Amino acid sequence: MTETKQKKIVILTGAGISAESGLKTFRDSDGLWENYDVMEVASIEAWHRNQELVQRFYNERRQQANQAQPNEGHKALTRLEEHFEVCIITQNVDSLHEKAGSTNIIHLHGELSKVRSTLDENLIYEWGEKPIGPDDKCEKGAPLRPHIVWFGEAVPLMETAARQAMTADIFMVIGTSLVVYPAAGLINYVREGTPLYVIDPNLPDLNPQDNLFMIEEKASTGVPRVVDEIIQNYA
Ligand code: OAD
Repeated sequence: MTETKQKKIVILTGAGISAESGLKTFRDSDGLWENYDVMEVASIEAWHRNQELVQRFYNERRQQANQAQPNEGHKALTRLEEHFEVCIITQNVDSLHEKAGSTNIIHLHGELSKVRSTLDENLIYEWGEKPIGPDDKCEKGAPLRPHIVWFGEAVPLMETAARQAMTADIFMVIGTSLVVYPAAGLINYVREGTPLYVIDPNLPDLNPQDNLFMIEEKASTGVPRVVDEIIQNYA
């Protein structure tokens, strides 16, 4: 008897997969995120300039994300776990992949439901949907900040994510404009010849190559269809 190794599917998701759950994407609304220029609220400079504004902005995002529900796109991805080893690399800071039931998720840009110490980046706390207030402190007495990777900061999980991309047998890209690095560079780690499925109603620019399947569709319909196809072809 021979045992066949389970194929590994690595999936890179962006704001587009959560759009139909009511969470706005970054670049579909004139470059504004909930009426703010992204750099005004999601950069380390912004934090140094106006902590109160940044805290308030993320307090609102945390509450909004907590109330959002996964859509058919998030849900369809969970079905892959019945047949494959699956790793989701998400740029999203919401927990909709977790809520849908996916189990192996790398949050490249952090998580809204967690907060961390401004003194020691290793002191990370589960926080839920509460706002962070000026009196909330870490165990060393320092103020807390959102557990988010802002523009101008390093992406600590990038190496882990790149290792996943390098070992993918099938790679999917869902709902990301692929303009923010280093995340966008992950597709360059995928081995040549690996089937690459891209699902987005406004497809990003990619060099044509064999095994590249571009699906110009919203996540809620495109992802279930592609998941069915992948299960049929590779499981
Ligand atoms: P973007 O807003 O740049 O891109 C969203 C993508 O989702 C676009 O390609 C849209 O066409 C697509 N889209 C819109 N509706 C969709 C739907 N219903 N189904 C599928 N796709 C849809 O968001 P990201 O690429 O995720 O970083 O942005 C990357 C990073 O830039 C974010 O993680 C964030 C941001 O600034 C930080 O905040 C650090």
